[in-house]
Amino acid sequence: MLEVIHISDTHFGPDRSLMIRGANPCVRSIALVEAINALPFTPDWVVHTGDVVNEPNPHAYALAAEVFSSCKAPLYFVAGNHDDVAMMREHLHFGPYQLLIPESDGQLCYRLTGGKNEAVEFFVVDGRVRPEEGPHGFLSENQIAAVINHISGEKPVAVFIHYPLSPIGSAWIDGHLLLENGPRFRDALSGKTGNQLRGVFSGHLHRGIQVFSGGVFQSGVSSPAGEFTAGPDDDFCDFLPGGLLPFNHLTFTADATMVKSYALPFEGDA
Ligand SMILES: [Fe+2]
Repeated sequence: MLEVIHISDTHFGPDRSLMIRGANPCVRSIALVEAINALPFTPDWVVHTGDVVNEPNPHAYALAAEVFSSCKAPLYFVAGNHDDVAMMREHLHFGPYQLLIPESDGQLCYRLTGGKNEAVEFFVVDGRVRPEEGPHGFLSENQIAAVINHISGEKPVAVFIHYPLSPIGSAWIDGHLLLENGPRFRDALSGKTGNQLRGVFSGHLHRGIQVFSGGVFQSGVSSPAGEFTAGPDDDFCDFLPGGLLPFNHLTFTADATMVKSYALPFEGDA
């Protein structure tokens, strides 16, 4: 059995004073780490599904690394549309992993390795596009092939990516924030894994989501830095004030994936 904490979209600034719509991402991330450390169990690891920082900046990654260094569990990071892979790899501390795409390609695609991780094949993929193309994602064919080729077919599989693969039923999000070739990747995964695919886990929406699409379970966690609106007919994406501290507790057993969502109260933006 594996116990994993899923967090996302911390949006650190270059110093502790950055405020985003009345929220201080650094103060909130410190509280988030304290809440994870206070759980009545120590997770096997914590996965962050991207947007570690608000703008790519070495000082922002150094601040994130400092805050996450107090986390009792090892961490893994996914690249989000606000991230820079070279800076992530330079400043952040990852648990053990094997790169599936050469570092020179600038894509952060890897498989988790070591110890209990070997009971499930965990993959991290990088769906970023150039910033001027928009906030949606697209997964390169070389990453899809790398993941599919590394799936043994003998163990359960789970995937972490910044971008959700499938619509959630909210107009602006579905039109702007998804992985454009999400169905292609979803179907490639399910075709290789059959009933062994344990889920695809994402961030980016600043919303908690649960989606079952094309036979694949998808779960997303919100952001401690601010939650987005997601009405069915929204033609924009606004921030909800006074957000809680969100994280998901994922449990992987021999035959199940379980997700427990937390949204803890927070007071103290400054
Ligand atoms: Fe974000």
